[in-house]
Amino acid sequence: MPVSSAATVSPARRVRGCIRVPGDKSIAHRYALLAALADGPTTLANYAPGADCRSTLGCLRMLGVDVKEGPAGAIILMGRGLRGLRSPSEPLDAGNSGTTMRLLAGILAAQPFATTIVGDTSLSSRPMRRVIGPLERMGARIESQDGRPPLTIHGGALRAIAHKSETPSAQVKSAVLLAGLHAEGTTTVVEPAATRDHTERAVRAFGGEVTVENGAIAITGGQRLAGRMLEIPGDLSSAAFWLVAAAALPGSEVLIRDVGLNPTRRALLDVLQRFGASVATTVTSVDADEPRGDVAVAYDRAASIEIAPEEVPALIDELPAIAALAMHGGEVSVRGASELRVKESDRIAVLAAGFRALGFEADERPDGFVVRAPRRARGGVADARGDHRMAMAFAIAGLSAERPSTILGADAVAISYPGFFDTLAQLTRG
Ligand code: S3P
Repeated sequence: MPVSSAATVSPARRVRGCIRVPGDKSIAHRYALLAALADGPTTLANYAPGADCRSTLGCLRMLGVDVKEGPAGAIILMGRGLRGLRSPSEPLDAGNSGTTMRLLAGILAAQPFATTIVGDTSLSSRPMRRVIGPLERMGARIESQDGRPPLTIHGGALRAIAHKSETPSAQVKSAVLLAGLHAEGTTTVVEPAATRDHTERAVRAFGGEVTVENGAIAITGGQRLAGRMLEIPGDLSSAAFWLVAAAALPGSEVLIRDVGLNPTRRALLDVLQRFGASVATTVTSVDADEPRGDVAVAYDRAASIEIAPEEVPALIDELPAIAALAMHGGEVSVRGASELRVKESDRIAVLAAGFRALGFEADERPDGFVVRAPRRARGGVADARGDHRMAMAFAIAGLSAERPSTILGADAVAISYPGFFDTLAQLTRG
């Protein structure tokens, strides 16, 4: 591990301040992909600055999409229309981004050419059968390394299917819906539990139609989309780290402005309230069907917290942050979250090892974890194993420790939150 990727986190009594967080990663991927398929130009203000959303732009460029940087973090894409993507001259690189690979697979399945899409070491070990299965049923042929990347997608004319997803996964749902946008007939997806619905909202924002009836999400192929000017709200999954710190450190108060408040993403706010924090949320506008607004969290009381299996799909990216709620005593217990094992790292194993290294008690379960803190953890050296959300969770947990902690692999924060450590310094100054 290069020395440059280690960060030191000093103990902090509390966090205080008013901030904005980077643009929402899930929404940014979808807007960029749909902009490429739309007719005419799209401008995306507040495009997510992390490496993952850059990977999506890089892949789109390779597919012939003209992508320009606009002022103040905006991105301008020239749509090529539903059938306008070009065969790339080299494999596409999704980097660390599962969303890029899986959502793009849905689009590539419908192209009249073959495309190879590769990823970094972490992404190369992640399961892809969940998208390969339905996309092959629609008519594509996909080569993989025993169900893992690289994927070579032999696209072509697709037929609509009714897909019943085994795993609650917004990426799988979105891959099938994006393929469905190109297929003959009406494709439906039924999920075992509701997942984030940004794709459904985004297709409508670009002028398309997606309906939801009795739990079946339906899209008809051949619809034309129109380019738009859109502004991406802040990412609540990035805000989660500050909100957890504010809830758990006595005397803290943090206000996050202009963050996404989509109902399928905001379960964390209920968890923080259950934990004992004071939480105030104001929806200030709804743009492109995505509510956004301000969230203020202040320390009030600290309880133990249990996350039940049925809560997991709506909290999947926040669970590493939620573990840090244990930082001033109390217990955080999570069940029904075995999906964490196939994220950017095995988040159950990495989380338990990292929290233990910081002086917490942490036990792995096959499908979750339990984290407890002594009155004050001693601090230590935790390895994020190249996983952005683990690096940020360990940094937050380290705030409560007796002495400074070192986070190995801290540069992974650049995947979703390049300015994370600057904001940490800002909020712990007061
Ligand atoms: C995402 C869906 C979730 C989430 C990921 C982003 C998305 O993954 O964990 O960070 O943007 O669709 P799964 O679909 O694998 O649950």
